[in-house]
Amino acid sequence: MADLDALFEAARAIQAKAYVPYSRFKVGAAIRTPSGRVYAGCNVENAAYPQGACAETGAISAMIAAGESRIAELVVVGDGDALCTPCGGCRQRIREFAAADTPIHIAGPEGIRKSFTLEALLPYSFGPDNLSAR
Ligand code: THU
Repeated sequence: MADLDALFEAARAIQAKAYVPYSRFKVGAAIRTPSGRVYAGCNVENAAYPQGACAETGAISAMIAAGESRIAELVVVGDGDALCTPCGGCRQRIREFAAADTPIHIAGPEGIRKSFTLEALLPYSFGPDNLSAR
């Protein structure tokens, strides 16, 4: 539980740094890898709207840049009453580096609200194994 608290705090800390002049909706994401290290990201928007990047994308980039490539657990935090679940594109990005049973915790400012497995958020997904038969 202490690990999950720390992961939530990492997501909360980076959420404050989000660059969101257009949506005004700050998101933070923190990944724990099997090594125990934590990689975090925030959303970074752009005047050319589709070029904005989600918090999960930033966290994945930080993980890869550090030489790691497996997600053991992930926290996403957003404000408001609705669950800040990853968008469809980010579910697929997470899928590249996570297992079907990898926990994805959705948090609000007060803490974790609901936890899902990757499989629950992205059933019947396409992944690296689909390409291994070539
Ligand atoms: N956003 C994320 O960064 N992650 C999510 O899980 C949901 C949405 C961002 C994208 C955009 O900058 C803002 O939230 C509003 O959609």
